Amino acid sequence: MPSPPLSHRARKQLDASADSPLLKALGRTFGNPRSDDNPDGVINAGLAENSLLHDWLTEFWERPGTLKLEHTDLTYGKSIFGSDRIFVALGQLYKTYFHPHEPVEPPHIVTSNGLSPLISRLAAVTSDVGDEWIVPAPWYNGFKQDLQGTSQVGIASVAVPAGAHGTVGEVEALEQEMERRQGDSSAPKVTAVLVTSPHNPLGFCYARDVLIEYCKFAERWNLYLVVDEIYALSVFDTDDCPDALPFTSILAIDVAAEAGCDLSRIIQLGGASKDFGCNGLRAGTAVVQHNADIMSALSVTALEIRMGSPTDALWSALLTSPELPTYLSLNKAALGRAYSYLTAWLRAHGLPYTPAHAGHFVLVDWREHVNQVEVADEARGGRFAKEVAFLDRIVDAGVYLGPGFSYACPEPGFFRMTFSIRRYELEIALERLEKLVGLEAKARELSRVYPS
Ligand SMILES: Cc1ncc(COP(=O)(O)O)c(C=O)c1O
Repeated sequence: MPSPPLSHRARKQLDASADSPLLKALGRTFGNPRSDDNPDGVINAGLAENSLLHDWLTEFWERPGTLKLEHTDLTYGKSIFGSDRIFVALGQLYKTYFHPHEPVEPPHIVTSNGLSPLISRLAAVTSDVGDEWIVPAPWYNGFKQDLQGTSQVGIASVAVPAGAHGTVGEVEALEQEMERRQGDSSAPKVTAVLVTSPHNPLGFCYARDVLIEYCKFAERWNLYLVVDEIYALSVFDTDDCPDALPFTSILAIDVAAEAGCDLSRIIQLGGASKDFGCNGLRAGTAVVQHNADIMSALSVTALEIRMGSPTDALWSALLTSPELPTYLSLNKAALGRAYSYLTAWLRAHGLPYTPAHAGHFVLVDWREHVNQVEVADEARGGRFAKEVAFLDRIVDAGVYLGPGFSYACPEPGFFRMTFSIRRYELEIALERLEKLVGLEAKARELSRVYPS
């Protein structure tokens, strides 16, 4: 007897991943990571991981009594969305750093085992199979998997005209796309608009007035407005962006009064992975203040995304610690130093980049080098053939960077580079890139000029 078959859904997912140059490169990176025992392994300088304060965080979390588990931590607990302890801790975080227009109360909060699975569940409860969320490009490459993987919701990707990112012009580009779809009977239904502020991969904060335009846009087209604020506290100072806007949370806006937007549309997202440098703990959050239907619908399947008690206890301990402001300011300063180092290296080698003041990465224009790659059958490989070939080459050379095609960058040749990995690994990664493309060796010397 042959073995029983996989579902159609799983087969579709497997086929999609087998064809994905991104997943191939990531598979090679995760399958052979560089370490002291494997010095020739691949350095991941493409995913958003922040290791800069790992020593501080492990010292804090290993202190006796920090991982204090209550009896209820070993049960299913009182609420499927999280413990009383994390609700109180998050309430304080929002109050202090997000300045909510309306206080965030425990019934408004959902916690989860990472933001990705929560986005997947939100897609499932707000949208039907085949519906789409409209997103300004470039966008964080994980959204595709989060929305599509299980919930089978697509992305209506809108190329934003050069120079219009983060401006009212960006909202106008989405408006035009919605208007175009009205005359296209084959266009899938759009159910939500997804904005990431601070932006991934461009590293800027949206202005309050642009967020208000997004609220009006959501109202006009009867959409949910999902605002991913997972990098809210990773804003840093840099001479590259002297007039950088501060972070403004969607929670801080009176969307009804300022935009005539129904409060039930607003879904704010966050988590611990980025601002608290702990992707591995798996902690995601959503705040939904005026939509009991979403909360009820999420609760039906929330067990599969519930945050584990150890993560809940550890994150709560940090969020309620008097040392939280110290951690956040150390993190901000470390991000600024790491950004200065990477961007000094980019400038030294004449590699253009989009100046950033938030997040863990910079979008870098590698076109000069990507265009030199010989591709056997360029016509067959499509517009991004050289970029895919370059990705293969850099992984062969022991470095993974995030390829622009996976973020829906309109032009081939761009890569997202992460500066918040451990300094000695970043140095080695940059040295490997220098060697590969024939650049003068500067990584080590610049690291001394721009220390970590
Ligand atoms: C914008 C954005 N949203 C969500 C996520 C997913 O984070 P998590 O580790 O909590 O699943 C990421 C991770 O890179 C991200 O950059």
